[in-house]
Amino acid sequence: MGPTMTGIGPAFDGRHFRDVLGNLPTAVVAVTTAGPDDGPAGMVVGTFTSVSLDPPLVSFLADRSSQTLPRIRAAGRYCANVLAADQEAVCRRMAVRDPGKFDTVPWTPSPLGNPVLEGIVAWVDCMIEKVVELGDHYLVVGRVHDLRVESPKTPLLFFRGGYGDYFSATSLVLDRLVGW
Ligand SMILES: Cc1cc2nc3c(=O)[nH]c(=O)nc-3n(C[C@H](O)[C@H](O)[C@H](O)COP(=O)(O)O)c2cc1C
Repeated sequence: MGPTMTGIGPAFDGRHFRDVLGNLPTAVVAVTTAGPDDGPAGMVVGTFTSVSLDPPLVSFLADRSSQTLPRIRAAGRYCANVLAADQEAVCRRMAVRDPGKFDTVPWTPSPLGNPVLEGIVAWVDCMIEKVVELGDHYLVVGRVHDLRVESPKTPLLFFRGGYGDYFSATSLVLDRLVGW
């Protein structure tokens, strides 16, 4: 029986929760936005995922303390930038709470006007469809407007607290890289 079924609270602390779930490798994505009257904003997330094909929906989870989330909600749109394995420095730059985090990161506007960072693997440009409060996070669902592969580079992965380029094929993989 799991902790929520007993009604007596979890049988673990936050450190254990993070340590166990850190065994799940995640892609590293910079979600970005830019309002009409202010500059670019963005943050790193490990929670970006596809949700639905018809209609085309994606999502990520933002901590309720995120300073980027209000900017994304105000703009009503965001772009998910899939960082490449050689972009750990960009990731560290974007994973801080600093209004100047874009100063050294070159970008161009997406079709919706969101920042597309230089050197990424792929981007997904969306309008916000729905924001759902879940515990201490918000699930931010986006309706995909456009998306593209920018480079054949492999993505940056986060696993057990470290960064890497861990993917190695263990079975035959068809060459399905589109748009490149
Ligand atoms: C690999 C990695 C994954 C992360 N995933 C998330 C995430 O899914 N959601 C989130 O809110 N923060 C996540 N963070 C933390 C944010 O990037 C960090 O708190 C950042 O400072 C938020 O910036 P902001 O306050 O300007 O929005 C992640 C950080 C790293 C390094």
